[in-house]
Amino acid sequence: MEEVADKAHAAGFTLWDTALVYGMGRSEAVLGEVLKRYARDDYRLSTKFTPQAAATSDDPVADMLEQSLARLGTDYIDLYWIHNPADVARWTPHLIPLLRSGKVKHVGVSNHKLSEIELANQILGEAGFRVEAIQNHYSLLYRSSEDAGIMDYCRSRGIPFFAYMVLEQGALAGKYSPENPLPEGSSRAETYNGMLPQLKALTDKLASIGQKQGAAAPDVATAWAIAKGATPIIGVTKPNYIDGLVRATSMTLSSDDIAELEALADAANVNTRGWWEKEMQV
Ligand SMILES: NC(=O)c1ccc[n+]([C@@H]2O[C@H](COP(=O)([O-])OP(=O)(O)OC[C@H]3O[C@@H](n4cnc5c(N)ncnc54)[C@H](OP(=O)(O)O)[C@@H]3O)[C@@H](O)[C@H]2O)c1
Repeated sequence: MEEVADKAHAAGFTLWDTALVYGMGRSEAVLGEVLKRYARDDYRLSTKFTPQAAATSDDPVADMLEQSLARLGTDYIDLYWIHNPADVARWTPHLIPLLRSGKVKHVGVSNHKLSEIELANQILGEAGFRVEAIQNHYSLLYRSSEDAGIMDYCRSRGIPFFAYMVLEQGALAGKYSPENPLPEGSSRAETYNGMLPQLKALTDKLASIGQKQGAAAPDVATAWAIAKGATPIIGVTKPNYIDGLVRATSMTLSSDDIAELEALADAANVNTRGWWEKEMQV
């Protein structure tokens, strides 16, 4: 993890996304430990309030934030998210005192559909704040935020759209195939191994586009998301994956490349919606 962090920082990737529910505190604790090596203003922290894991206290949002601050070893979060929409009118107002106190610098919503984003924005707006970022599942195989008008909404208001699972947990990285499936027994194997035969034409195309520019399949999948206006949040598990991110940020994809990739993704005809996600269409 130290090696990944050092390489990422040297390349200018300094926003770290986590959540209290990732490993029930473990992800935040490990991240907090690793980031001790940098000055606090040299990196940005993104973590989340998960309504589904809320305590039954007076202010479960403030309480979950305090736990995150302690685990991350900091006194403020740069970007704090409502992780999943549960009851937008109930949870969104809890962000306002956190913004006022400075413990949270900016707020965003994740996995909210357009009507829920608009409601959250209205609630924050009444207190002089606003939804400052969106974080949704967005990949070649899962373009619901585009279809539901969320990316247009973000673009027209200058709101950054953060895309997660751009590589579909590795299934679009090109290294897994029916002959070399994802490690058995993992939840990602359960989700993706049955789809790998349908994904082959797409991952082959990602690799061939990459080859022309000295890049690899995952770099092209990431470059595609950037070309569509998203800021990818990539699950980097190995130091050399940072090289791929650097290549992805400097690649150019033609409109033909984009159209061909999207046609192959559509032809794969798979649904990679996570169990925690709802339909984005209004
Ligand atoms: N808001 C939400 O509800 C939500 C939900 C899910 C995720 N997220 C955020 O999004 C982040 C990323 O999600 P994710 O890790 O599940 O999915 P991902 O980024 O689509 O996939 C990550 C996997 O892709 C492979 N990979 C990454 N870079 C690669 C490269 N350059 N070359 C080859 N393989 C590469 C790795 O697999 P191997 O390790 O097998 O090589 C890695 O485990 C999470 O850490 C989290 O911060 C948010």
